Amino acid sequence: MILPRIEPFKIKMVEPIYQSTKIQRENWIKDASFNLFNLKSEQVVIDLLTDSGTGAMSDRQWAAMMMGDESYAGASSYYNLKEAIKNITGFDYFLPTHQGRAAENVLFSALVKEGDIVPGNSHFDTTKGHIEFRKAKAIDCTAEISTDTTIWHPFKGNVDLEKLENVLKSNPPEKISCIIVTVTNNTAGGQPVSMSNIREVGKLSKKYGVKFIIDSARFAENAYFIKLREEGYANTDIRDIAREMFSYADGMTMSSKKDAIVNMGGFIGFRVEELFRKASTFNIIYEGFLTYGGMSGRDMNALAQGLYEGTELLYLESRISQVALLGNKMKEYGIPVLQPFGGHAIFINAKDFLPQVPAEEFPAQTLAVELYTEGGVRGVEIGALMADRDPETRKNRFPELEMVRLAIPRRVYTDNHMDYVAATVRNVFDRRDHIRRGVKIKWEAPIMRHFTVQLEKL
Ligand code: F0G
Repeated sequence: MILPRIEPFKIKMVEPIYQSTKIQRENWIKDASFNLFNLKSEQVVIDLLTDSGTGAMSDRQWAAMMMGDESYAGASSYYNLKEAIKNITGFDYFLPTHQGRAAENVLFSALVKEGDIVPGNSHFDTTKGHIEFRKAKAIDCTAEISTDTTIWHPFKGNVDLEKLENVLKSNPPEKISCIIVTVTNNTAGGQPVSMSNIREVGKLSKKYGVKFIIDSARFAENAYFIKLREEGYANTDIRDIAREMFSYADGMTMSSKKDAIVNMGGFIGFRVEELFRKASTFNIIYEGFLTYGGMSGRDMNALAQGLYEGTELLYLESRISQVALLGNKMKEYGIPVLQPFGGHAIFINAKDFLPQVPAEEFPAQTLAVELYTEGGVRGVEIGALMADRDPETRKNRFPELEMVRLAIPRRVYTDNHMDYVAATVRNVFDRRDHIRRGVKIKWEAPIMRHFTVQLEKL
């Protein structure tokens, strides 16, 4: 008999899960204006809002925290992190920041100016927010295949190279702040980007003299998919794959709250000193001195250790197969889920789940609210609410994919919890014909509205 896959860790510390009734949850979500971000965590049974900052640190990481050096300048923790970043990514220069969007803020302050364009593959919402806030434009060059929910493709996160080259060709290089490739492609369903695609983007960036930055939040999961699915990488070590991915880029932004399995932290990696110097000034203004920038010494130590743990093959295998376990269970129940399954999350196609709810009534948000009331499962809408309004026309944007994302925190939930989630989705699926109306916006912020939006049920 083949021995089953096991998690390559055991549990030393646990925290309670708060159970609640459907009636309680109906009241709570109403009080929260049908915005899942407004719920208290105790009101949630299984929290799949995000895989960001929600992972469980290891005993090694906690031990590393105790060794944190809290010196303002030149802390040993900074040098530990510098060494880990060099080993894992190959970048010689880095700036610590308190999280991923802070890295974007600092880097874009040095790179993006009004009227610029920033091509890439489905920029994450904070990335797009930082671009649009500077009155520049994010241009989505994601491969067409990413929105085809019926086709299995190993690298649905890829950049459409032709589209990208057209953008590079038709704009002067000084107008293009940089190319941003997000690995894995979160917004397009946690789908990976192939090594050959990254390599080609690197070539185009050199050909047109434009910088190439990798948004690396889930770089290790991306590397794992390359190992699994791309020819020639089956026997390559995850860290070698990661280093090759980064070797084609000029820099990286990192939200360490994902693949580095820490609760807070981020950084920017740079290939050359010049851009590092330019960004350093902004890091000092916005984040902190160059050797801590928004992180305490103990956090940098935990992050250094997390970078190694997050790139271990056994860990990645267990992580990604747990996500697939949830996906397969839902598929078995006939629930329309995006395939192949993403690295960090299962995405439910809300247009197919609730076809009778009109796009203007936010079907994915409607479904996310139903999953919460049904079983206390908190997912997140990745659809028209998050896509926000066009900054120029102020019209609602309706993206091709209208989804609920169930993101799995790292090393936190058991497979049993995944069964509970699948059962919750199934119960809603069984009564889907009775859900005929969606939600309406009562109040929204001018930018990044989904975090604070207030809704009312129709
Ligand atoms: N880039 C990507 C691809 C992300 O997924 C995120 C965050 C960020 C940048 C920003 O990083 O949160 O540390 O400031 N994604 C989280 C999510 C919030 O739920 O997907 P941050």
